[in-house]
Formats: sequence, structure tokens, C-alpha cells
Amino acid sequence: MLNPRLSTLPEYPFQRLRELLDPIDPPAAIEPLVLSIGEPRHPPPPMIAEIFAASADLWGRYPPGDGTPEFRAATAAWLAARYGLDNGAVDPDRHVLPVAGTREALYLVSALAVPRQKGGRQPVVALPNPFYHVYGGAAAVSGAESLYLPAGPKSGFLPDITLVDEKTLERTAMYYFCSPANPQGAVAGLDVLKAAIELAREYDFVLVADECYAEIYDREPPPGALEACKQLGDGFDNVLVFHSLSKRSSAPGLRSGFVAGDEKLIRPFKRLRNYVGPQVPMPTMAASAALWSDESHVEENRRLYRAKFDIAEEILGGRFGFYRPEGGFFLWLDVGDGEAAARKLWAEAGVRVLPGAYIGRDDGSGVNPGSPFIRLALVDDPESTTNALEKIVKVL
Ligand SMILES: Cc1ncc(COP(=O)(O)O)c(C=O)c1O
Repeated sequence: MLNPRLSTLPEYPFQRLRELLDPIDPPAAIEPLVLSIGEPRHPPPPMIAEIFAASADLWGRYPPGDGTPEFRAATAAWLAARYGLDNGAVDPDRHVLPVAGTREALYLVSALAVPRQKGGRQPVVALPNPFYHVYGGAAAVSGAESLYLPAGPKSGFLPDITLVDEKTLERTAMYYFCSPANPQGAVAGLDVLKAAIELAREYDFVLVADECYAEIYDREPPPGALEACKQLGDGFDNVLVFHSLSKRSSAPGLRSGFVAGDEKLIRPFKRLRNYVGPQVPMPTMAASAALWSDESHVEENRRLYRAKFDIAEEILGGRFGFYRPEGGFFLWLDVGDGEAAARKLWAEAGVRVLPGAYIGRDDGSGVNPGSPFIRLALVDDPESTTNALEKIVKVL
């Protein structure tokens, strides 16, 4: 009765975390500190509520699947400015598609890009290891073989698709690539992006560039895949970029993002999505257009994260392989045994963190590259962050 592919779905990381920690009582009379979930908790910009109030009449309209002209224009203009693209390179009507948060689109892109067979054999979906769990779920349900590319300290915490053999590349239908990376915060340079794009074109697979942390960075704005396309001079062939307001504007509840890139992919993606129906409501699109047109709230957001990385550097510097991530809002700490550390932190200090193993996979060599790590999301206020990090030092 059930689709047998469901049995290949990787175990859901947060279900595993519940199973690990729910049987354990944290110390009584202390407020638990939750760093396990990457949910931004800075105050969302007031303009969201203002625009919702002013556009209440729009709740009475079915939203168009391809968005409003204002939304498409704002996102295309933001892309051009952010990545130094040529005037008119991103055509709002041909290259951009609104999505109800990037998560659903990162899942659904597998229905767009993974055929039944590639090169006469089972297709391959390449993904970093460890990885954002949605990539693994999408790859499993698409019927593809998941190819986990190690993204540990040896490769600068990024996967390297150029190491994959030719026969496997011939079967590759899609490559999930995340920069800045969740969980490691590593940022891919333009050379890495260009090499991935060149391979995507040579072997005709889709590069799914998840850039939803692109606006949360420490010093330099991370380069993007469309910028790499510009340097290669070939338009956006084989490339889709995924951007979100969840992190940029600290508005994960808004459920608003967009996909941009290759027109030959955007057009059928639009068509497919019209059947599925994950439209973005009209008031949300109005607020989103305003958010993509404003930089001041994003600068403030980055300032808040930088202040917390300063705190982390002071408290953790020199311990647990601490490094200051170039982007994103996670710490990826080498504690030897991530699962044991998560258990101990919850039991002794009421601090909830995610064992790295839960977002990694045994890559066939018997090693899960996430196992030694814990992931900490620095999404709370500075006081709670300080409190949690001091407890981590004390307990571990
Ligand atoms: C790497 C990565 N991609 C995509 C998402 C999805 O974000 P949203 O659906 O809120 O845009 C997340 C959320 O945590 C993430 O960590």
C-alpha cells in the first residue's frame, strides 16, 4: 500500500533527538536552553506586521503561482545588486519563482530534476555529508541513489564534486550544495562554485545551490552561484539558487523565499508547482517585496549574530576545535562523541544541542563524519547564549 521508497527515508534528526533526550530529566528549577533548532529568534522587522495590516483585503485572493510583478521585480533587483550581475541578466518574469520557504522547494526540485533513469541506470543525487535533512528526504523519495560527499575538516568543511568518478557523474541528476553551509558555516569561493557549474553542464545535472544563509555572514558577503555563472559567461544553464527570508529577515514564520536561475528549469518548475499548490499568499508577497528591498534590518541582524560569535569566541576559543564560521549562525564543535555530549549537556545543564551524527550518514566506509560533533544554533539573545556556552564549557 505504501510507496516502498518511504522506507529509505533517512531517520528524522529531531525525532532521533527526542528519542535520545526525552527519557532524561534535565535538572529541575532551571529554564532549558534550546540550541538544537536553527530557528532565528531575533525580532522580525515591524514592517511585516504593518504591511499585513495594510493589505488585509488581499487575503481574499488566490495568489498566482508565479508571484506578483512587485515580488519578482524586488527579488531580481536584489540578486543583481547582491551578486553584481549585469543589468537585465535576471529577468523577473523568466528567471525568478516565489516559494513558500525554501524547504518545500528544495524538496520539490527533486520531482523536477530526477528522472527515472539517467545514462540507462538508477540516477544519483549528490549531497554534502553532513547535510540539511530535507536533501536526504527528497533524494530518497525520488528513487535516486544518494551520494554522500564528505564535508569534514580535510576538505575545508565543503563537499568536492570534482572528486566523483566519471561513471557516477554520468548518472548524477542533481547536486545539493549549501554555502554558507549548514552546519559548518563554510563558504565556497567562486572557484568551487565554477567547478561545480562546469561539471553540471558537462554531465547535464542540476546544481541546486542552497544559499539561504547567504546574508548571515561574518566579514565578507559569500559569493553566489549566479555570480559564478556570470564569470563563466554562459547564462544560468543547469543552475538554480534558493534564497529565503527566514534567516535574512529573521522571519521563519513568514514562509517566504524564492528560486532563481536557468529559465529551462524555472518554466517547468512553475508548471509543476501549479499542480502542487505551494503558493505564497498575497500579503506575504507584499511584505516580502519590501523586505528584499531593504538592507538596514539585515545589517542589524548580522550585527546581532556577530556579537554572539564574539561571545562564543571568548568563551570557547581554543576548545572543541572552535572556529569562527564565515557564514550562517551555527557552531560545529568537535566534542569527540556528539551523542554522549548531547545527553550529558541535557542531563546536567538543561542545554539541548543536536548530535552531529543525526545530520550525517555513514558514507559506506563505516564512518559518519558528523559523529564527533555537536551543532549549536546561536539564535537566542546574548544572555541566553552566554549562559548556554558557559554551561557547555563547565559540563564538557
Ligand atoms: C540549509 C538550509 N536550507 C534550507 C532551509 C529552509 O529554510 P526555509 O524553508 O525557512 O526557507 C534551512 C532551514 O533551516 C536550512 O538550514
